[in-house]
Amino acid sequence: MFPKPFFAFIFCASIVAVVPAPAAAPASPCAAVHIIAARASTEDPGPGIIGTLVTQIQNRSSQTVSTNSVTYPATLTNYPSSSAQGTAATITLLTNQANACPSQNIVLVGYSQGAHIIGHAVAGGGGLMR
Ligand SMILES: *[C@@H]1O[C@H](CO)[C@@H](O)[C@H](O)[C@H]1NC(C)=O
Repeated sequence: MFPKPFFAFIFCASIVAVVPAPAAAPASPCAAVHIIAARASTEDPGPGIIGTLVTQIQNRSSQTVSTNSVTYPATLTNYPSSSAQGTAATITLLTNQANACPSQNIVLVGYSQGAHIIGHAVAGGGGLMR
């Protein structure tokens, strides 16, 4: 029917028509990559020692990388309760992030109890963690 160059022209013209002027385009609130970090037992609130890895990734990546940390007790004395709260908090963070930024790549990192709760959040797991 039509030669290929004709189709190519129509395709380009329609892109020009729908892309707003750069000044009017809002910056995306979503980084290309988001890292959720879960700290180890007894570490202070925040990303803990695994945060060094997160910072290194942010420093070296050519992509935009955002991050946040799982808020949970990270205690050893009541490990089953602490890890259950951490697992629930990780699932909430992950769900909210995926809803807010559906095309973003999400990375989960954790150390010690933090790794434990990441594993449970992603892969499930029956019973209490000890
Ligand atoms: C990341 O970059 C900042 C700024 O250059 C630097 O101060 C910091 O030490 C770096 N952190 C890591 C873990 O590479």
